[in-house]
Amino acid sequence: MAFIAHISDLHVGALAFKHDLLNKAIQEINDMCPDVTIVTGDITENGYYMEFEKAAQYLDEFESPLLVIPGNHDARHVGEQGFGELIEKRCGALNLKSKGLVVIGLDSSEPDLDYGKVGRAQQEFMEEELKHASKDKLYKIIALHHHIIPVPKTGRERNVLSDAGDILQSIVDGEANLVLSGHKHMPHVWILGNTTFATAGTASSLKLRGKTVPSYNTININEDTIEIILRGIEGKKITLAKYDNTCR
Ligand SMILES: [Fe+2]
Ligand SMILES: [Fe+2]
Repeated sequence: MAFIAHISDLHVGALAFKHDLLNKAIQEINDMCPDVTIVTGDITENGYYMEFEKAAQYLDEFESPLLVIPGNHDARHVGEQGFGELIEKRCGALNLKSKGLVVIGLDSSEPDLDYGKVGRAQQEFMEEELKHASKDKLYKIIALHHHIIPVPKTGRERNVLSDAGDILQSIVDGEANLVLSGHKHMPHVWILGNTTFATAGTASSLKLRGKTVPSYNTININEDTIEIILRGIEGKKITLAKYDNTCR
């Protein structure tokens, strides 16, 4: 049915950023020919314009349709300017009707702050998009940088969305199928009711927690099953979740 690449937290411009890792990830993803690649923020380290210029060059190398949303690092130092000029054309909602899915991107970043917030305007936009997608019987994916549900092994919780309860309610009411996030650099999957919440690690930096490795995720949506696989840049491959596809 559909094959999705989920990559996050590139951190272009960081001391810990490794361009070899990003080049390898882009090459691997292009070789797998996904129907869409979703980039869930922190594409830069400091939100500097020059970092966005470099990040845009990397993003241009993806051959699949692309949806990119900003993270808290991209909102530093008036980063919304660089993101707006160089990246935003890749933001918003991406309707892939021929593949039976829609991806709704949300900007959860706040200028110069690490915590996340979606806000009422975007919440209403998401609710409308979910409604339309339900009518069209599409598989509904929400993409945002900050996690809505706490992620294990990430220490004391400080960065969950400040309006997580409201957004979670809209996600459940709108019967979203999959919610993709980054931010904590800790790959994880929660399956709650009919919605799966998957976070990706950092794909191209060494800003790693414990023994995690640079990685990204792929999601294979088949007629009967859905499989989320972590792909370590150094060849590590782990099935994070495999479950029945109830959205048919
Ligand atoms: Fe990050
Ligand atoms: Fe982040």
